[in-house]
Amino acid sequence: MDSNGVVFKDVVSGKAYPIEDRVRSDEGGLLEVSYDFDALRECVSKELFDKRLGSRTFPYGSGVWRFRELIHPLAEDKHIVSRPEGNTNLYAHQKLKTYVGASAAAKHEGENPTGSFKDRGMTVAITEAVRLGKRSVACASTGNTSASVAAYAAQAGLSSVVFIPDGEIAYGKLSQALAYGARALQIQGNFDDAMRLVEDASKQLGLYLLNSVNPWRIEGQKSIFFDLLQQRRWKAPDWVVVPAGNLGNISALGKAIYEMDELGLLDKIPRVAGVQAEGSNPFYRMIKGSEQALSAEEHPKTVATAIKIGNPVSWQKAKAVVEYTGGAVESVSDQEIMDAKAVVDSCGIGCEPASAASVAGAKKLVDAGVISESDEVVCVLTGNLLKDPDATVNYHLKKLSGLSPKYSNAPVKITPNVKEVRHYLA
Ligand code: F0G
Repeated sequence: MDSNGVVFKDVVSGKAYPIEDRVRSDEGGLLEVSYDFDALRECVSKELFDKRLGSRTFPYGSGVWRFRELIHPLAEDKHIVSRPEGNTNLYAHQKLKTYVGASAAAKHEGENPTGSFKDRGMTVAITEAVRLGKRSVACASTGNTSASVAAYAAQAGLSSVVFIPDGEIAYGKLSQALAYGARALQIQGNFDDAMRLVEDASKQLGLYLLNSVNPWRIEGQKSIFFDLLQQRRWKAPDWVVVPAGNLGNISALGKAIYEMDELGLLDKIPRVAGVQAEGSNPFYRMIKGSEQALSAEEHPKTVATAIKIGNPVSWQKAKAVVEYTGGAVESVSDQEIMDAKAVVDSCGIGCEPASAASVAGAKKLVDAGVISESDEVVCVLTGNLLKDPDATVNYHLKKLSGLSPKYSNAPVKITPNVKEVRHYLA
């Protein structure tokens, strides 16, 4: 139907479309990029990806584009907009292992150019915008997507519009969107309202939609797993645990695992766990209740504003991932999120609140016996510590309402003399 056997497919009906200017199927369903695996098996290998690792030849220095055959095989070098991104570190720290209760490591996606995992999907979706000759791009966001859209659009010379819930996104992220030059529309309502509006506005005004309903975002985000697998010398962990909001990332992770397995590059299928914040957990409730469809949470709440989402777009894909990998879902309180974050931070690694949901969730799944103590667990830290300094400082100052921080490290005020310093250090 299209070059290289690459097509879009409706994830529910399976109806195929050529690769063209669309983000949803004719029926309004979610699409995914589908490959001809027989053709791919002929051209990709661990050796090919290892040979490109550390390359200074564009675009292979990117931890996304190194896997280009599995990311966007139709993109030519001249289309690619790359910072470059990916190649994030995997941290093992004894304190983290002790806290989680298993052999845990943290993959730090906050080390991407704009400080979150969103850059991996954005480099690909912006590349597609360039390939299609788009001039303007748009997204709804709890903050990180808007920062990433703004930065990549600026690099590509496109104009960007970001739809953000008024007063609900962390300052680090808002400052990025403004600084990179996005037109910021503050919506009276929450993320779900902004998401509805941006889909309608994009259709009517010809803006190219860059939320994770855009199948190219998912293609780029798959590289978290490819990068991880290569980093672990092509040995899969037992579990990969991710925070879950709009459910794009968990969908990408499952697709990456499936494709690596189809290509014979995977030694075993890792189990995937998605972790939601207690006040914003419609996906958790759907899976736990064995319901077939998602019931939206009308009034999502959580200190982890990045995942304060009541009506996640990609729940069908995410459900399939949990089933396919024999995975799990978990729900964690704001207290659990912020205490886990304090532990990650005190390892010298650091992350934003939503990211720590993965660590809090892994701990809870170990305590419940779902993850075994001997399992190798990778927790994905999705965003940088500096994204939301207010949450961090207010935790340590014990100013987060309803929370009693277990690991508070509050500053002390002293007069400028050594006697006082000695007193406080004693
Ligand atoms: N962690 C962080 C730091 C995020 O910013 C997000 C989503 C998630 C986890 C959840 O990922 O939505 O793919 O399930 N942030 C989006 C945004 C919604 O607008 O920045 P997901």
